[in-house]
Amino acid sequence: MTANHYYDRDVVSIRDFTRNELEFLFNFTDKISNLPRTERSELGKGRTLGSIYYEPSTRTRMSFEAAISSIGGSSIGIADPKSSSIEKGESLSDTIRIMDLYSDVLVLRHPLDGSGRFASELSRNPVINAGSGSEEHPTQAMLDLYTIHKEKGRIDGLRIGIIGDLKYGRTIYSLVYGLANYDVDIRLISPPTLRIRKESLYGVENKLKIQEYTDIPEEILSTLDVIYVTRIQKERFPDIQEYEKVKGTYTIDQTTLDKSKTDVSIMHPLPRLDEISHSIDNTSNATYFRQAANGKEIRAALLALIINEDPV
Ligand code: CP
Repeated sequence: MTANHYYDRDVVSIRDFTRNELEFLFNFTDKISNLPRTERSELGKGRTLGSIYYEPSTRTRMSFEAAISSIGGSSIGIADPKSSSIEKGESLSDTIRIMDLYSDVLVLRHPLDGSGRFASELSRNPVINAGSGSEEHPTQAMLDLYTIHKEKGRIDGLRIGIIGDLKYGRTIYSLVYGLANYDVDIRLISPPTLRIRKESLYGVENKLKIQEYTDIPEEILSTLDVIYVTRIQKERFPDIQEYEKVKGTYTIDQTTLDKSKTDVSIMHPLPRLDEISHSIDNTSNATYFRQAANGKEIRAALLALIINEDPV
């Protein structure tokens, strides 16, 4: 096996990972997905995943828990700060230090940008950022890139439309940083007030081919290989009236599919509200549930690589 660069490593930003390292993870994910259950469950035997969620989560938390369980490990965690001593006023740093004592790998979701880096500097054990403010969600991008590769057989040469809340959506930033490793044509579609934060593209802007739109022109829609849709995130708007102005701006439905490539992949990190119609859920284009399933496999592979220097 090639050297495992994930061993004992933090996952704070996807910017910290090269294309080779990402593809190593994708290949390893394929490998362990095909392992017999008994062999797979040796990878995390006796290891504990500790998670701290200061914000709600369904997919990230559950897929990490399912992932560690699938490789033979166990999990402990704070799913809701109100059920922990955070409610009594315990600081983030003390919470991290304590969970670090009981775990082999820590997962943190927190509303502040920089929280993942902060945790990684405090913790003795590796830290995985499960979402830090509007900044990053690196494991979401890992599973998104893996999904694109799996669905399309490649990432290079694709035209990818990204729609919705591009200002506050942390999954978007991690995805765009990850895509900067590839030769892709990115079309960003958002209300003017929710455009991508240009200052957050520092260091990658020269590697990206990006064009921005407010509406999806039909001549562009018909050329997209992937349409990555995001929720407009009410909880991140400083002014609720600004949210009211843009909510429900975009809906992907059968009319959208009729104007798109027949094999377009519709992706979404989920949860969704009304930005993807349930009426297309059973089409082959609806990739978002396969994408969520890939989350468990990518995270199992990532944990196995972090825990074991030479896993298989
Ligand atoms: N995609 C994602 O992060 O979903 P959750 O908020 O449910 O974890």
